[in-house]
Amino acid sequence: IRTEAPLKELYKDAFQIGAAVSPKTIVTQGSLLAYHFNSLTAENVMKFEILHPQEDVYSFEDADVIAAFAKEQGMALRGHTLVWHNQTPDWLFEDGRGGLVPRDVLFARLQEHIQTVVGRYKDVIYSWDVVNEVISDDAGDENAFLRPSKWLDIAGEDFIAKAFEFAHEADPQALLFYNDYNESHPHKRERIYRLVRSLLDQGVPIHGVGLQAHWNLFDPSLDDIRAAIERYAELGLQLQLTELDMSVFRFEDRRTDLIQPTQDMLELQAARYESIFRVLYEYREHISAVTFWGAADDYTWLDDFPVRGRKNWPFLFDEAHHPKEAYQRVARIP
Ligand code: XIL
Repeated sequence: IRTEAPLKELYKDAFQIGAAVSPKTIVTQGSLLAYHFNSLTAENVMKFEILHPQEDVYSFEDADVIAAFAKEQGMALRGHTLVWHNQTPDWLFEDGRGGLVPRDVLFARLQEHIQTVVGRYKDVIYSWDVVNEVISDDAGDENAFLRPSKWLDIAGEDFIAKAFEFAHEADPQALLFYNDYNESHPHKRERIYRLVRSLLDQGVPIHGVGLQAHWNLFDPSLDDIRAAIERYAELGLQLQLTELDMSVFRFEDRRTDLIQPTQDMLELQAARYESIFRVLYEYREHISAVTFWGAADDYTWLDDFPVRGRKNWPFLFDEAHHPKEAYQRVARIP
């Protein structure tokens, strides 16, 4: 029996509170999700390689389970993701004779995929991460812009605009997002800004910027987070935090000895969540949802990334789904 206040109620006048889920976690974390969260994202099962592993094979079973749960619970559902360089099957780019397809074939395949997937979930999914992570991370090369990929090799940068156009055709009501990580680092922030600005200038249907927000106890700085929100808000689009988690390790930290978080880590995490949610709350007019990339510390992709098998504790709820000190701090802001 829960006695703490539901996050979704506390933040209802500010933004939605979301969680990434799988067919497994909607069972193992079902009551926590229903109590605190009013939005969901499929962590993996709506990605290209899972939905559409071969040209003539779709597999919607797992995605349908998530969609049905969101409907039953009356929760919002975000779609993730249509165009990405990861978890995308090779057949999409290949001509079956050892070469790559020409761009018109790639676009026809992409359009068919988007029509089928976005069309299928039109009544339950209200927003899609249409294009994910296409901006270069290269901090050393100031001319770097788009990440090298098969998409770029085959089609040049038009695949980005095309994806948004196809998604808009498939569901004219859906809110369409560009989504990326390291989004608060100044060099990447300016590249993301430039991409979205140019899409808007071309009249491409795009409605939001997703800040993945895979953060840790030390990075990015609060000033950089604030600067990123302000910069993206200048685009006049809505912003969402789409994949928030707060690793207790610095990215370059490869230590594997911890089997539980230290008291210092938990205190730092509580303080960090508090200061971040203060900023998010302050900018609530621009921010429509804050989605965590999970819900509680019993399951996080960070248990396997970037160090395989290392436990992490990135959320507001512990492994037994009890509220952590970080929850208390976030709960008292609104
Ligand atoms: C991750 C999932 O959490 C993992 O389970 C999977 O193995 C790899 O992908 N950016 C994204 C997400 O946009 O889709 C990624 O999700 C995390 C980074």
